[in-house]
Amino acid sequence: MKIKVQSLDQTKKIAALFASSLDKDGLFVTLTGDIGAGKTQFVRYVLEYLNINKKVTSPSFVILNEYKSPLFPIYHFDLYRLEKKGLDSIILELREYSKTGVLTFIEWAEFAHGEIPKNALRINVQYDNNNLDIRYFNFSSLDEANYKFIEKFQKRIKDEHLSNMLCFE
Ligand SMILES: Nc1ncnc2c1ncn2[C@@H]1O[C@H](COP(=O)(O)OP(=O)(O)O)[C@@H](O)[C@H]1O
Ligand SMILES: [Mg+2]
Repeated sequence: MKIKVQSLDQTKKIAALFASSLDKDGLFVTLTGDIGAGKTQFVRYVLEYLNINKKVTSPSFVILNEYKSPLFPIYHFDLYRLEKKGLDSIILELREYSKTGVLTFIEWAEFAHGEIPKNALRINVQYDNNNLDIRYFNFSSLDEANYKFIEKFQKRIKDEHLSNMLCFE
């Protein structure tokens, strides 16, 4: 499912609908896309909706940020500066945090190549070269449960009369 957002505020709305579709099972999410596309911004808005008030940074050197929520523990990996050595040391954590009951975001998942568990819900973010306020968020998954989550999320977008953001191609 691909969404065209035309402003930062619309990104915030979409992130809130995404967060409101979550239940206590959590979700294992990978984020890919160009630098500056809006991956950290999306995570920040999801956490804001979940009332996590500890500041979320876009960590250059910190690989993992951890947050507490009454619903589930939340982990935000940023693999941008990860080296081969570092990848070996976090493989177990990646597996552990892909289990149910945890909300995990893996930003720059492309740097972990084959080590990302296959059940991920994948978000790819791209910007429009002609208008930098416009961003495309593409949600996909090979996992059936995650696919159901995407359907639930899509229904909320429709219920909020935001269908004009959905792209069909
Ligand atoms: N519609 C939009 N959605 C998300 N970010 C946007 C949008 N329009 C402008 N931006 C800006 O783009 C930047 C995205 O940065 P960031 O989320 O850190 O990127 P990434 O983590 O993908 O490298 C932010 O400065 C944000 O304010
Ligand atoms: Mg980032």
